[in-house]
Order: sequence, then structure tokens, then C-alpha cells
Amino acid sequence: MISQQEVLNCMFQSWYQSFRKHTIKSKIIKLSSKFIEYLKEDGVFLPSSVKFPERFREEDFWKIGDEDDENQFINENQNQIQNQNQNENQNQNQNQNQNQNQNQNQFINENQNQNQNQNKNQNENQIENQNENQNQNQNQNQFKNQNQNENQKIDLNQLYQMDLKNIQENEVKDKQKNEYSFPSLEKEIEEVIKLYEGKVVPKLNWTCPRDANWVTSSGSVACDSVSDIFLSLKSSIHIHHDLNHAFDFCYDKTMDSPEEFVLVLRKYYPLLPSMEFRCFVRSQKLFAISQRDHTTYYFFLHEKKDIYLKLIQEFFQKVIQNNFPNENYIFDIYITKNQRVFIIDFGPFSEFTDSLLFEWEELKNQEKWNENKIELRLVNKNTPLRTDPITEFRYPQDYVELHDSIAIQKFVDLFREGKFD
Ligand SMILES: Nc1ncnc2c1ncn2[C@@H]1O[C@H](COP(=O)(O)OP(=O)(O)OP(=O)(O)O)[C@@H](O)[C@H]1O
Ligand SMILES: [Mg+2]
Repeated sequence: MISQQEVLNCMFQSWYQSFRKHTIKSKIIKLSSKFIEYLKEDGVFLPSSVKFPERFREEDFWKIGDEDDENQFINENQNQIQNQNQNENQNQNQNQNQNQNQNQNQFINENQNQNQNQNKNQNENQIENQNENQNQNQNQNQFKNQNQNENQKIDLNQLYQMDLKNIQENEVKDKQKNEYSFPSLEKEIEEVIKLYEGKVVPKLNWTCPRDANWVTSSGSVACDSVSDIFLSLKSSIHIHHDLNHAFDFCYDKTMDSPEEFVLVLRKYYPLLPSMEFRCFVRSQKLFAISQRDHTTYYFFLHEKKDIYLKLIQEFFQKVIQNNFPNENYIFDIYITKNQRVFIIDFGPFSEFTDSLLFEWEELKNQEKWNENKIELRLVNKNTPLRTDPITEFRYPQDYVELHDSIAIQKFVDLFREGKFD
């Protein structure tokens, strides 16, 4: 368990000033309580003031394809129309035949009905002497039916009232949704996007909406517009954690959310996933490092393992050690082509943080770790296959459940036995 203060120390706005020379350029924008209310509101929608960016203007669109394409397109269209007409004629003929058949059937049925009516009249004469009890029963049944009809009427009326209530409530909600409008925030965001050459990575106090990459125009963490940013923040379950559950793991929890929320906009860089590492610190000592992308085997990392370990260790001693307020924490770094180290993020030393190639149990077991030796763990050829937890938000559940070699073997066995449904 960790303290509330330790979690607060990991907020971006808490550490950025101290480490700004060693991290990605970023701007911090304070968020109003109305904006937080908008983020917490059910449903993914944009404030009334936000417009989708015009990515394709009409004249750009018509530039696609030349005249030959256009002629081909027209010919193909005409062929399609001719085929459709032929099909329609065939259908009409079929319908006419069906109608004729129906008429014949009607005729036969009518004749049969006439015969039946004659028989009925004969029977009716025979039954004239039926007893009164039957009539009474009929009356009773009629009465029952009337009652049922009335009940149905009441049910329908109730349903109608409920529908009306829903419609009215939705109208009120729509009205409230239209009341969200943040023109000055939008302007600030647009200015930062321009400053950072068109692409930024958004984040709240702790978290980046990586699970909502599907909603951005780039399909990645990079956002090029206000609508990308708002929609990814609103669609993200990770952001929901920042908004409502940031202190759930704290032994001294006194609040549900921090006093202030900020929107962090970081300049976007096309980072190589192989060059990201997560570092684990206990009692201000770095003792374990994991490949950040723990799903892929990068053979070249093994060749340079010692160089990278030394680089990270030196960077930690020079820049981070004793300068970050927590005793225990994790930090993520990126190593550039020129072997410079940059901080990506800090995080709490707690089970809520992904331990990647380690298990939390072993990380917390102090006896396991040699005081002076740091372990850099990489994916090797024999490491059982893992999927990135983020894939949960991209693929069907069955795929996500194939998280280790045992699960995959089980899947294969079931499939072979034909038991997979
Ligand atoms: N400025 C950036 N440019 C490019 N990619 C970025 C940038 N910032 C973050 N990323 C990518 O997004 C990932 C997550 O970033 P970050 O650690 O800030 O978010 P997070 O929500 O704290 O994620 P996690 O919980 O996994 O630590 C990074 O590992 C990196 O791959
Ligand atoms: Mg992080």
C-alpha cells in the first residue's frame, strides 16, 4: 500500500518543473470544474462549440483519380443499372405469376367456403336446441376478454407515459449537453498544437488515454485537433481512473480526486517502442529495469544490453536519485539514437502500475535483490508470448485471453477436439 502523498507526487504537474530539461516538451493547462463535469457526463459527445476539423476539402477530393478512371466509373455504373433493370423485370414477371396463382387459390377457397357455409347452416339447425349453459359460458368468456383488453389498454398507456418521460429526459440531457462550451480552452489547445507542429499527446494529471487511440484520426496517441483530444479523453477508461479512482490504493485515502485537474499536452515524437524502459526504485535505489514493450523480442537489445544498463544507471544517479520525493517509485525512460536518456513519466511503486516483465511479488521481495546489482530484463526468444493489456481495447475478448503459452495450448487443444464455440 502507498500513501496519498506518494500518488500526488507522481502527478505530471508535480514533477514536470524539476525535470523539464530531461523530458518531452509539454504544456500544462488548468481545467475548470465544468470541463471535469463534461468528462464525467455519460456518453461520448463533443461540446457544442467544437467542430470536426475539415480534413478533406471538396477540391482536394476531386483531385483523386483522372479522366480515364472517371469514364471507367461511368461505364461500370451503366452496366450495373442495366443489370438492375433486367433483375427488376424478372421480378415483375415473377410477381405477376404469383398474383395469378393467388387469384386461382382465392377462387378455390371461396368455393370451399360456400360449401362450408351450407354445412354450417345444416348444423345450426341441428344445434338450435343447445342448452343455456353454453350461452352463459360464452358470456363469461366475453366478460373475461373485456377485462383483459382493459388491462392491455392500461399497460399501453403506461408504456406511452414511460416513453414520453424518456423522451422528455433525453431532451433535457441534450439541452444540458449543448450547454457545454469551452471556447477559451479550445483556443489554448489550438495554440499548443500549432506550437508543437501539429501533433500532441494529451494526458490528465497521471494518465494518457492510450486505450482510446481508436478514436483519434491518427489511430495512435497523437492528436492533431481539439476534437481528437476531447473524444479520446471522453472515451478512455484509463482517464476514468484519474477522474474517480486515483487514490483507491492508498492506505490513508481521504479524497476521491485531487484538488486540481490539468490537461497536459506533450509534443508528439514517433518513439520506437523498443527503446522505452520502465525502471523500479526502492529506498531511492534503482534495482530493476524492464523492456517497456514487453510483447516483442528485439534481438538488438540483447547485443547492447550492457551499454543501455550503464546509460540508465548513470542517468538515474545524475538526474533522478534523491531528487524525486518518493522513496519508492517507478520511472519510464526513452533512449534516443544518440544514446541520450529522456524521462517519459513517473508512477507509484504499487500493484496498480504494470510491472511488465517482472511480477510485483518478486519486486516487493527485498531479499531477492542484490544491493549493488541492477537487473535489466528483456524479452528473449523463449519468453512466453504476451499481449499488451491495451489490446483489450482493440481486439475481441477471445484474443486477449491468449495471454500466455498455456492459454494458447488450451485454445489449440479445444479447437482440435472441436469443443471450441
Ligand atoms: N510525447 C509523446 N510522443 C510519442 N509517444 C508518447 C508521448 N508521450 C507518451 N507517449 C507514448 O505513450 C505511452 C504512455 O505514456 P505515459 O506513460 O505518459 O501514459 P500513462 O497513461 O502513464 O501510461 P502507463 O500507465 O502505461 O505508464 C508512452 O510509453 C509512449 O509510448
Ligand atoms: Mg505512465
